[in-house]
Amino acid sequence: PRCIWLTRHGESVDNIVGKIGDAPLSAKGKKYGACLSRFIKQQRKENERSRRVEAEAGMAISPQREKTVAVWTSMLTRTKETVEEFDPKEYDIKHIRFLNEIYAGICEGLSYSQIEQLYPEEYEARRVSKLFYRYPGMGGESYLDVIQRLNPLIIELERMTSDLLIVTHRVVLRILLGYLMDIDRSKMPDMDVHLHTVYCVEPKPHGTVVRKFRWVE
Ligand code: F6P
Repeated sequence: PRCIWLTRHGESVDNIVGKIGDAPLSAKGKKYGACLSRFIKQQRKENERSRRVEAEAGMAISPQREKTVAVWTSMLTRTKETVEEFDPKEYDIKHIRFLNEIYAGICEGLSYSQIEQLYPEEYEARRVSKLFYRYPGMGGESYLDVIQRLNPLIIELERMTSDLLIVTHRVVLRILLGYLMDIDRSKMPDMDVHLHTVYCVEPKPHGTVVRKFRWVE
């Protein structure tokens, strides 16, 4: 794609209390969703303007700038709610399981301090080796597992020619940004990726350009 916007979902009620797991958005998280839809609309207008200027000059960027903007979210409540303000008539919206957050197995729904209290050995094992650590319990995942499941999606992403907004989660965002910015996977688990921030990634011949936008309430 010409431009990939990447963001985490808006603040969820679990984010407020520091729990990991799926939960609906807080009032603030919903406001972020509304702001995100205005922001993307604005960006689309700018693309439209460039297209017009190019056409007036009798030139078009190659490959042609596509009009559609694809919006991909995970299958979880908090990303779906974040794009509620996006009009499905204007955007090609897809919910994709591969974009789901790392699944924490028996630790889903707990806070980090609860994990430390209930499963001190697990807590320690993850602290020592976050990249390799796999959460126990059915379907529990590690960063490496998530890297693995994102591979087909990365191939699809590189093949696409339309602009794309991805609304996902902390771990997935670290991995996607890490990949696009050529950051070693050993560094991915500790990357700072804040809520209510949009990363605009543009692949250029001389390297990838990343611009960061933070929501100012
Ligand atoms: O707290 C939000 C969250 O996205 C959780 O759902 C997830 O388990 C966690 O962040 C991942 O962050 P870390 O790998 O740093 O624990």
